[in-house]
Amino acid sequence: MTGAVTILAIESSCDDTAAAVLQDGLILSNVVANQLVHEKYGGVVPELASRAHQKNIVPVVDAALKQAQVKLDELSAVAFTSSPGLIGSLLVGTSFAKALALSLDIPLIAVNHMEAHVMAHFIAQPIPQFPFMCLTVSGGHTLIELLHADGRMENIGQTLDDAAGEAFDKCAKLLGLPYPGGPLIDLYAKDGNPNTYSFPVSSVSGFDFSFSGLKTSFLNFLKHHTSKNPDFIANNLADCCASVQHAIIQQLIAKLESAATQYGVSHIGIAGGVSANSVLRNAVEELGIKHNWNTYIPAFEYCTDNAAMIAMAAWYKYRKQEFSELTITPSAK
Ligand code: KG4
Ligand code: ZN
Repeated sequence: MTGAVTILAIESSCDDTAAAVLQDGLILSNVVANQLVHEKYGGVVPELASRAHQKNIVPVVDAALKQAQVKLDELSAVAFTSSPGLIGSLLVGTSFAKALALSLDIPLIAVNHMEAHVMAHFIAQPIPQFPFMCLTVSGGHTLIELLHADGRMENIGQTLDDAAGEAFDKCAKLLGLPYPGGPLIDLYAKDGNPNTYSFPVSSVSGFDFSFSGLKTSFLNFLKHHTSKNPDFIANNLADCCASVQHAIIQQLIAKLESAATQYGVSHIGIAGGVSANSVLRNAVEELGIKHNWNTYIPAFEYCTDNAAMIAMAAWYKYRKQEFSELTITPSAK
């Protein structure tokens, strides 16, 4: 035993099985197994996801421990994602973490997945100063959160219908692209003009978001054009991607800008899978330059689902001795 605090973290909330090892606040390993099985179904199939987690979890944890050169008996705690997510997927990580913590007689730390996305900003320097406003955009959530110095996470705004990642994935599906379509829209949009077609930007007031109107408008737009020209999508894919991406990002940036202005915050960031989007990353940088705000954009490996962010959230909880009972059950919400 080294006397160091060593945490094994497990993430299994959706379709990525991930494990990471953290020692005294430093990430030693970060392993993710993606589930390609969902690609052909156009979305995550919950039953297939939990089966894949069962298959992947032992090799993924094993790889994370080996890469970190840490043995099981050196662990100080086991952390896991307890909510939100697909219940069958969460159960695999939860059961594994509980069994391991029980067998090693070490504490168990339950972590909220969305809070962990924000905590990804504390993995590498420079870390944000408080209050820190984070736009967290993933396949299931779109939130503006304000992280205070005492660790309190205040919810400022959220989507009233689809999440930003869901909007990307649904629009990509309408274009005939496989799941998850967000990264493909980002890729094809690089050759397109974002001002070719215009789509409505939500008129929801305050700091909440709405993307369902955009999706319907995109569907009607494609129906209209393909009825006249069946090759419309194939011939205009880049412009379609660039234009719909522009509409999504425009809404995200407008809300983040007005929320940070109203709350007088000068440290802002983005997190979650959609924060891997190249246009969003650039737009946040530009916002920082415009207002002289400090901007925080996670490295790509910490944008989409990973266990390093779970480990970092757990490290803060460990120092406050915020441990969970072995009877804890995961929650979808
Ligand atoms: O955070 P995440 O990995 O999983 C959830 O917690 O949902 O986010 C996944 C979402 C998907 O909707 C995916 O299409 C989107 O993030 N995404 C992107 C990009 N990379 C991932 N969306 C737009 N552009 C990207 N480059
Ligand atoms: Zn996520």
